[in-house]
Amino acid sequence: MKLKTILSAMVIAGCGAGAVLAADDPVKVREGLMKGIGRSMGAIAGIAKGEKPYDAEVVKTALTTISTNIKAFPDQFPAGSDVNSEASPKIWENMDDFKAHAAKLGTDADTLLAQLPADQAGVGAAAGMLGKDCGACHELYRIKK
Ligand code: HEC
Repeated sequence: MKLKTILSAMVIAGCGAGAVLAADDPVKVREGLMKGIGRSMGAIAGIAKGEKPYDAEVVKTALTTISTNIKAFPDQFPAGSDVNSEASPKIWENMDDFKAHAAKLGTDADTLLAQLPADQAGVGAAAGMLGKDCGACHELYRIKK
């Protein structure tokens, strides 16, 4: 837990370069990918709730990050890398299903990119659609430590 907090702080400090700095540790790489996805969902939720004005570029960038990161995500789970992470051992028992959950989010993000939500209501619907994908996978495969 403590170690994880420190590692997370390092990833945050690395910001854009985080994925590069952490290239040798799959836990740090995948947490960095998820952090990018989390930030992107934050941007989408901000617009959906009307806290931020609708901005097509922001929506596009967020969806692109979600799509790119979730596609790289399932490759960061070599055997034994559940240590010091929130990854459930169930991932390794059900790798195909886990990958299918990742693919679902990737497909949904790509669908939205192909037809970019055009206003606040559209972004709200997108947030609901993507949020379901996050929840479905976290419920099964992410454990809170
Ligand atoms: C395919 C399964 C899957 C999907 C889909 C998924 N996640 Fe995750 N997420 C995980 C797992 C597994 C972890 C824990 C990773 C670890 O600790 O090794 C995680 C961790 C996280 C974290 C914590 C990262 C950290 O350590 O700081 C955030 C934030 C997050 N997810 C956000 C999201 C959001 C937002 C979405 C939807 C847009 C999403 N996730 C979709 C599986 C998924």
